[in-house]
Amino acid sequence: MPATTDAPAPAEPLNDLDLSDLNLWKDGPPHEVFARLRDTRELHWSPLGDFEHETGFWSVVRHEDIAKVGRDHEAFSSQRSIVFVDKLAWDGSPDPLDLGQHMMICQDPPRHDRLKSLVQRAFTPKRSLEHSDRMREIINLVYDRALEQHPDGRLDLVQDVGIHVPSMVIGDMLGVPREDAAQLVDWTNRTTAFEDPRMVADLGEVMRALEEFVPYVDKMVKDRREHPTDDLTTALVEAQVDGEHLAQEEIVMFFFLLMVAGNDSTRAVFTSGMKNLLEDPEQMELVRSGAVTLEQVVEEFVRYNPAFAYMRRTATTDVEFSGTQIRKGDKLALWYVSGNRDATVFDRPDQFDVRRNPNAHQGFSGGGRHFCLGAGLARLELKLWIEETLRRFPDLALAGDATRVSSTFLNQYSEIPVALQG
Ligand code: HEM
Repeated sequence: MPATTDAPAPAEPLNDLDLSDLNLWKDGPPHEVFARLRDTRELHWSPLGDFEHETGFWSVVRHEDIAKVGRDHEAFSSQRSIVFVDKLAWDGSPDPLDLGQHMMICQDPPRHDRLKSLVQRAFTPKRSLEHSDRMREIINLVYDRALEQHPDGRLDLVQDVGIHVPSMVIGDMLGVPREDAAQLVDWTNRTTAFEDPRMVADLGEVMRALEEFVPYVDKMVKDRREHPTDDLTTALVEAQVDGEHLAQEEIVMFFFLLMVAGNDSTRAVFTSGMKNLLEDPEQMELVRSGAVTLEQVVEEFVRYNPAFAYMRRTATTDVEFSGTQIRKGDKLALWYVSGNRDATVFDRPDQFDVRRNPNAHQGFSGGGRHFCLGAGLARLELKLWIEETLRRFPDLALAGDATRVSSTFLNQYSEIPVALQG
């Protein structure tokens, strides 16, 4: 029999796949690969081929498994690193990941819990509400400025709007003058987008960004020691854990964590979610007509495009998990981007649907000690941001091709051209 020409190409064997291969991520997360992996009980092993000094990692892809690993901090530690690699610099030069060790996101209880408790009260949903008016003001200020620079309303939703709103919101809380917020974002961007050569030329670039960032924060910290205010930086300066103040580098890296985590994430979710809405008039109508609540819209934004594709854990002991023998020291990637599309939890998981309710996504993690500190703040910020955007711009439309950040960790766009007004 002659071979039919329209038969689907055979799927690539899963064993040969390396999920750290950026080619798989050109158009966003490889959802079809994750769907196939979710059907396999054993965990998949990726060799981390592009990093000769590093060992590979296991992929945890099912909703239930992600929740189990995320909640078991004794067997699966956050220490060392939250990305695939243990080190970025193997030639003995200063390594940004070593500095990262001071952040609670890279620590386990009990120290992690004590550090988190220092700031947790400032981030409860109730306390976040106190920032509502300021957030609305920032959102409108950013749109006003963007329109001053682009009077025809044609601009980039990421660069002209997206990067500014969250940085000013968290910047205000930390006590950063608004005119410096963009500079801080630039420094933090150059550390997180290290896989994208268009944004970060080499490792030196990451270190240079940190070398500029650290003295800036050092100066702020010194200033708050002498002149305390009611901002979060002062709170960190005055805080004590086990009767001792935080070391200077701990304060600086705490500040860094809040700046990065509060920024990259909210911007990524807002801009990707708006793109989805603008591509789907039916969904947009549901939102504009008030047929769904904005709270529902926010949850679906976070489910469909979680800001961080994965976070890593490291096994502290030999353990069998999901039919797989894991050894002490093995790395595991918790693929939130996959848990959020698990058909055992979500009906039509690949469909962007703002009506979804309940929506038990893992965009803020699968639970456990590292559950996102800023979830309450982010939910409110996103709600107000969507509301103000749709109120001000009834004719908002996409106006060109979007460009993705090249990364397996950051799930976001670097450019989304839009026309704010018709
Ligand atoms: C939609 C926006 C956001 C998303 C999708 C998001 C997502 C996440 C995720 C997935 C984690 C878990 C890390 C892990 O598993 O190890 C996390 C942790 C964290 N997030 Fe968020 N985040 C968002 C907004 C924010 C904001 C506005 C802040 C404000 C400061 C923030 C601060 C943090 C911090 C400090 C941690 C570490 C918590 C810990 O280690 O206990 N996030 N976030």
